[in-house]
Amino acid sequence: MSNTKQRKTSFSLKEQWNILRYLFSFAKSETKWFILSIVMMVIASALSAYLPIIIQQYIDEYLSTSSATIQITLQVAGTYLVLLLLRMVIVYVKDYTFKLASEHTVANMRNNLYHKLGKLSLDYFNKTPNGEVVSRVTNDTETIKEFWNVFLTFFDGFINATMIAVAMFSLSVSMSWVFMAFIPVIFILIYVYQKISTVIYRRMRQALSKVNARLSESTMGMWLIQQFNQTQRMKEEFDEVNQEYLVARTNMFKMNAVLLMPAINLIEQIVLVIVIWIFASQLLSGSVVDIGIIYAFTSYSKSFFHPIGGMLDSLSIYQDGLVSASRGMALLANESTEPQPNANAVDSLIDGQINIDDLYFSYDGENDVLKDIDLEVSPGEMIAIVGHTGSGKSTIINLLMRFYEYHQGLISVDKEDIRDHTKRSVRSQIGLVQQDAFMFYGDFYDNIRLHGNYSDEEVREAAEFTGADHFIKSMEDGYRSHISEGGSSLSAGQKQLINIARTIIRNPRILILDEATANIDTETEQYIQQSLEKIREQATLIVIAHRLSTIKDADKIYVLHKGRVIEQGHHDELIELEGTYYDMYRLQSLQGKV
Ligand SMILES: Nc1ncnc2c1ncn2[C@@H]1O[C@H](COP(=O)(O)OP(=O)(O)OP(=O)(O)O)[C@@H](O)[C@H]1O
Ligand SMILES: [Mg+2]
Repeated sequence: MSNTKQRKTSFSLKEQWNILRYLFSFAKSETKWFILSIVMMVIASALSAYLPIIIQQYIDEYLSTSSATIQITLQVAGTYLVLLLLRMVIVYVKDYTFKLASEHTVANMRNNLYHKLGKLSLDYFNKTPNGEVVSRVTNDTETIKEFWNVFLTFFDGFINATMIAVAMFSLSVSMSWVFMAFIPVIFILIYVYQKISTVIYRRMRQALSKVNARLSESTMGMWLIQQFNQTQRMKEEFDEVNQEYLVARTNMFKMNAVLLMPAINLIEQIVLVIVIWIFASQLLSGSVVDIGIIYAFTSYSKSFFHPIGGMLDSLSIYQDGLVSASRGMALLANESTEPQPNANAVDSLIDGQINIDDLYFSYDGENDVLKDIDLEVSPGEMIAIVGHTGSGKSTIINLLMRFYEYHQGLISVDKEDIRDHTKRSVRSQIGLVQQDAFMFYGDFYDNIRLHGNYSDEEVREAAEFTGADHFIKSMEDGYRSHISEGGSSLSAGQKQLINIARTIIRNPRILILDEATANIDTETEQYIQQSLEKIREQATLIVIAHRLSTIKDADKIYVLHKGRVIEQGHHDELIELEGTYYDMYRLQSLQGKV
């Protein structure tokens, strides 16, 4: 089970401020658009506040004095209409520029996160479920986009309220105070809403991540589920988390339906009643009341409180956005970068001499997986590493390929610390073929070439070299045949042949085969063995294999046991020793494997 663990969902003001600063850092290049949008917002709000005043003046100056003419009425109506249209255009520009700027900002952020992923150590990917990594770059940035809309709503609500307040005070100070008196009520409402919504939203998010975790777990392990007849159980478990999510969503709707708009509407109506009551009592006490002002205030009661309702509504998204942004921040702040070369590292041509001295290594910082390893390979030599499952063979390779950083001991290539070679020289001149070969979406050319600069001819030669040529040619579209992502349309052995071909074509100075031929039939394997004989003339070879027949000819065989080299030497020497290697070999001979 992966990501149902409790996550941080509430933030102190300081944390919120840091998160906002982080978000704004991506918006820098879009500053001018955001400013334009805010300017438009101010103009639109000013127009909204001014429009009722036009009608108010018309009523009070012309209608109530019976001096309105057709011409004046048309003029007023015309002005009103033009300003209304103008406001429409301005609102459009405001929304458009804001959305555009926020899309760009979020795209910046996505790029940044993706870029960071490429630099993270493999350790991060070992520890983080796949779905979570994807979600960091896609779902979370989407949430952040909505978060920007929260800013829009907030600015809008705030500027709008300020503008209307100014307009109201210019019309009638005493009446304006009625509106102001309700502002504390709104704040209380916001406070209560945020308290409740945080809890409800947290439950909803947790339920959703459970649903996602279930889903990704079951799609990844579908063959296992079917094989062990677990379909019914999985369905029931999924039903359960899905139900939990449904309940959480329902609670949210309930809360919104009860609290949000009805509460705001209620306030609106109360204010309206009070306004009318005050006017009425003024009228009854014999003072003169301008009807136009009554009109203006009635229309303000809606446009003053409504945007505030919008602000309330977006509070929950604000919470969501904070959570998403904080996760993005955490990812960018992750310091477990992939191993770095020394500052003075140079691109260099590698001869193929490898020395490992007193090497210790641990994945988790506690249990040593490799202990006191010494190993030497001269250019053009072939060495083999054998040992039981989990003895640390692949780990040595992981360090040699610089997938993980080591802290004790020394690995040198051509008698120089491997850290003095750039990653580019190490990875371009050391070729690794692993047992699990990943296939990318594309055809055979793409998959062997892997964006390297190789001609079709060279690709075919590499495929012939490994014997992959036979099965590729027998396919309907030959080398142009389509391979699905992950290579599910190929057999395990076929994938390995492709994988060897894509390494061979790069002409590495050091070639490492880690269980590279485990799934290949004996006949093809022998064919590859012969091909490898040719490679031995140009490259250093390190072979890891369980099938000992394939490594009998190695110049030196290292036998690993629980992270230590316990035996080393030529095949005949090790047989004579009658130790672990001898036992392994004898067992395989009995089984007819050698
Ligand atoms: N990414 C990892 N994080 C933590 N521990 C790991 C990791 N990879 C391997 N280990 C541990 O390190 C030890 C050595 O693993 P390694 O993969 O080197 O074995 P191996 O000799 O290649 O085995 P096999 O023959 O099965 O491939 C094992 O105990 C394994 O549990
Ligand atoms: Mg291994």
